[in-house]
Amino acid sequence: MHSELKCFNPACRAAFPITEVIYNCPACGGLLEASYSGPFAPAGELKSLWKSRRQSNDRLDLSGVWRFREMFPFLDDYSAVVTLREGCTPLLDAPLAARYGGLDRLTFKHQGFNPTGSFKDNGMTCGVAQARRLGMKRVACVSTGNTSASMAAYASAGGLDPIIFIPHGNISYGKLAQALEYGARTLQVEANFDQILALVRVLAERLGIYLLNSINPFRIEGQKSIVIEMMEQREWKAPDWVVLPGGNLGNTAAFGKGLREMLRLGLIDRLPRLAVIQAEGSAPFYDFLQRGANDFRPVPRPETLATAIRIGDPVSWPKALLEVTASGGLSERVTEQEIADAKAVIGRCGIGCEPASAATLAGVRKLTAAGAIRPGDDVVAVLTGNVLKDPDYIFKYHTDQLASPTGAPLHPAFGNRPAVVPNDPDQIARLLG
Ligand code: F0G
Repeated sequence: MHSELKCFNPACRAAFPITEVIYNCPACGGLLEASYSGPFAPAGELKSLWKSRRQSNDRLDLSGVWRFREMFPFLDDYSAVVTLREGCTPLLDAPLAARYGGLDRLTFKHQGFNPTGSFKDNGMTCGVAQARRLGMKRVACVSTGNTSASMAAYASAGGLDPIIFIPHGNISYGKLAQALEYGARTLQVEANFDQILALVRVLAERLGIYLLNSINPFRIEGQKSIVIEMMEQREWKAPDWVVLPGGNLGNTAAFGKGLREMLRLGLIDRLPRLAVIQAEGSAPFYDFLQRGANDFRPVPRPETLATAIRIGDPVSWPKALLEVTASGGLSERVTEQEIADAKAVIGRCGIGCEPASAATLAGVRKLTAAGAIRPGDDVVAVLTGNVLKDPDYIFKYHTDQLASPTGAPLHPAFGNRPAVVPNDPDQIARLLG
């Protein structure tokens, strides 16, 4: 099997060695992707190999990413792999959320069950393996919180030095706390995500630090495993829709690439449609598709309480455009109120997620109301982060203190305020009826 880095730009397609430390095409500036040539095993053989590995206690086979390593064969030696048993996340049926979303049935693929609580772990295990293979000592990322938590954990576990850059005051404490605990050198910059990404790219080059944002093609390779595992759990039957939140659009790029590769290898027989949901105040991709124009216009001052997707200039938009188009998919945007209520409904299913993840259910509800998704459609929504990532948001919602970034109060349709009671059995019994 031969692997190389290839320019994603169809007019260029320049190729580079898989071990070159580049994040954009040196010829045209386009995005890069990992590309493989050589014989892949037949689909049936791959399916039974992956299934048989479920019996194994080998550390690679226990990983819900590396169990599928034939789909991203960029390493020639697996000793560089750092695994924390990422992936292996459940598909959960959620009847209450289905009803709320206007569907007969809805399943969640819950990436919050990952070791650091988000889907970033699927990609980070691959990114850190590549960093170690290249002999890099320091790794860096800018993050709205989850990438930094994940990078800090995997880098520290692998003996690398993690340096994270985060927008000052705009990430949840749960995520910041993880980065500190996992030992990352943490720089809070007084700028937004998009501005800091530009800064970090300059610093990475100047200081020889390996960049682990989703512009890194190896992160994208690892995130393909989310849809591969999803299809295996569904006995290789593709759903009608895969719904996911869109921020920097790396996950959309990864899902699309993974699905197209699975189709090409005969692992699935059709592509599900991708529905990318953005928050109203940070919706450049939705706007772009609505306008149907060629020029992508960033949102200069993105706003949303779903801080994970507070991104106005997503780097992976060209890849996301290709994937959404190839799958016959679409993009939708949802309001702060819609996200907040959808999130509480997911909570009442006993499942829970962080705010950005709830954009999926809010989007499904809007898309079924508009007739774009039909009630009987087979839909999988991806919950990207764990409920405990942002407890502050939850407490404010349930106690009627949540306000949108403009200051407008949000009304908790599913609020659940805790009651303060005296230490008196009679009064408590009366209260509980
Ligand atoms: N959901 C969560 C919980 C996220 O943390 C992110 C991105 C997304 C959705 C959007 O995914 O960027 O691939 O479109 N978080 C990044 C971070 C940007 O820094 O943690 P995307």
